[in-house]
Amino acid sequence: MELPFAESWKIKMVEPIRKSTREEREQWLRDAHYNVFQLRAEHVYIDLLTDSGTGAMSDRQWAAMMTGDESYAGARSFFQLKDTVTRITGFDYVIPTHQGRAAENVLFSALVKAGDIVPGNSHFDTTKGHIESRKATALDCTVDEAKDTQLEVPFKGNVDPVKLEEALKLAADKIPFIIVTITNNTAGGQPVSMENLRRVRAIADRYGKRVIFDSARFAENAYFIKTREEGYADKTIKEICLEMFSMADAMTMSAKKDGIVNMGGFIATRHEDWFEAAKCFCIPFEGYLTYGGMNGRDMAALAVGLDENTEFDNLQTRIHQVEYLAKRLDEFGIPYQRPAGGHAIFVDASKVLSKVPKEEFPAQTLTVELYREAGIRGCEIGYILADRDPVTRENRFGGLDLLRLAIPRRVYTDNHMDVIAVALKNVYDRRETITRGVKIVWEAELMRHFTVQLEPLG
Ligand code: F0G
Repeated sequence: MELPFAESWKIKMVEPIRKSTREEREQWLRDAHYNVFQLRAEHVYIDLLTDSGTGAMSDRQWAAMMTGDESYAGARSFFQLKDTVTRITGFDYVIPTHQGRAAENVLFSALVKAGDIVPGNSHFDTTKGHIESRKATALDCTVDEAKDTQLEVPFKGNVDPVKLEEALKLAADKIPFIIVTITNNTAGGQPVSMENLRRVRAIADRYGKRVIFDSARFAENAYFIKTREEGYADKTIKEICLEMFSMADAMTMSAKKDGIVNMGGFIATRHEDWFEAAKCFCIPFEGYLTYGGMNGRDMAALAVGLDENTEFDNLQTRIHQVEYLAKRLDEFGIPYQRPAGGHAIFVDASKVLSKVPKEEFPAQTLTVELYREAGIRGCEIGYILADRDPVTRENRFGGLDLLRLAIPRRVYTDNHMDVIAVALKNVYDRRETITRGVKIVWEAELMRHFTVQLEPLG
């Protein structure tokens, strides 16, 4: 008999979590203005708000913390990090930053100006925010397949080469660079194929443009290339990473995801001119160039995390768990962005709560219902997150309206996945009775989803 699959690690330290009653949760929801970001984490049983900074570090990472060099300049830990990044990506110039959006802030301060257009595949909200706050436009060139959650295609995160080329034909002089997000978080943690990266590179070269990878989940992207794309089955994850990054000029990185650290990020590039330009913004915003907002010990742990998480076994354990949750949802017929993504399941809220009008935010309503049901905290990746159009100030209802269940790395067991699936089934079973959603009573101008205040309707 073939042995079943099991995790490629064992557990050395645990943290208790607590269940709550429905009455308690009702009160906590009211106190939080029906925005799950405003809940106290102690009031959450299973926390799927994000896979960012929520992973469990390994014993080797904790050991590396003790060896961190906290020198202000030229710390050994910086060079450990830099050498690891160079080995995995091929980029020689590395600037640490305190997280991914800080990498965006530093690099875009040097590269993006008012009136620019930055094409890419479903820019993450901070990426879009850093473009739009500079009075530039983030142009989404994701493949149309990503919009149909029920379509089963292997690389739903891809850039549409036709849309990209169209943008370059029309406005090449306004385009400072192209940005490709691997994996494509907003479209459902969907990967980008090597073939697609190659095509983007070829188009960029034709127009003399550079390419940046938003690389938060680059290792998961490499795993999907290995397991889904022809010709890569026998390559190691590290070989695939080097090939992926050979298609880019630079990367921004939120190390809180595939670096498996609780805080950190970096910029890396092969171009001295971009390095020089970014340096000027790193020092005032983040700190001196060999720490850029990170402690020495955090850089040391990140160096180990990057190395570990570019090994197949670790990635296989992770993706297997996401797929396990997907299979449980399949049993109950709950619709989500297919196939299962790398870091999360994205439930198609407009299909589940089809009676809730889009103006009443179905995905946010489902997020609240799942918390109410079992104390499970997901995150709306939908119409609230999409913000208003910066010019017309209208809500942007053009994209998908999803409830993201992000799975922290090496944190929960498959038993937790079972609880999540059944809790969602219970909400799904009473979906016909949920006809009203929520209304916004207060919102910020940009990135409103963190602080928005809501009231239930009906
Ligand atoms: N790019 C992508 C694709 C991301 O998913 C994130 C963060 C960032 C950039 C910004 O990085 O948080 O370190 O500043 N995503 C988190 C999430 C917050 O929950 O998906 P950061």
